[in-house]
Amino acid sequence: MAKVRTAILISGGGSNMEALIAASRRPDYPAEIVLVVASNHKAGGIAKAKAAGIAAISFDHKAHDREGLERAVNAELEKASIELVCLAGWMRLLSPYLIGQWHNRMINIHPSLLPDFKGLHTHRRALEAGKSEHGCTVHFVRQDVDSGPIIGQAKVPVLPGDTEETLAARVLLEEHKLYPHALELVASGRVRVEGDEIVRA
Ligand code: GRF
Repeated sequence: MAKVRTAILISGGGSNMEALIAASRRPDYPAEIVLVVASNHKAGGIAKAKAAGIAAISFDHKAHDREGLERAVNAELEKASIELVCLAGWMRLLSPYLIGQWHNRMINIHPSLLPDFKGLHTHRRALEAGKSEHGCTVHFVRQDVDSGPIIGQAKVPVLPGDTEETLAARVLLEEHKLYPHALELVASGRVRVEGDEIVRA
């Protein structure tokens, strides 16, 4: 079976990217990571992707307006015949242009149990809200930030004495398991979207 040609968009260290690349090495994994795109030249994930033998390119987002950056990124995705896009710590808001190009073909990981805590500083806000559970979500991308049909979630307990850092680390470990699983579900066709509803085969 042909593997789904997948790109990962990053802005930082790329630990989720590494987890996706590692999973994609499995012979029976349905997605192949063929391209990593970074929104800035300093993203630590670029070197990691190259070390893993994967083509990686970076942009200076400050040199473009939002849609200009997206058009440049999209041209690279098309050049590489990408079929599916994974946002993995891509810290630029997306305009209707890129979201429209990749409708139902772009997924994102967010470090909270959506719909709780959309946006930034999710771990701090979960602690401040006195939550006993927190976690992460992988979802299809829609125009509203951190919204869209949910493919999967993983929960962690919030423990006494947790700080933003300890909680973030516990969630990140789950992200590294959840994201490869979610990509597998989408790339294999076991999860798809009809309208805004998830359909599981
Ligand atoms: C992760 O917490 C992810 O959920 C969020 O940004 C962070 C990226 O971390 N969207 P990394 O670059 O994958 O290590």
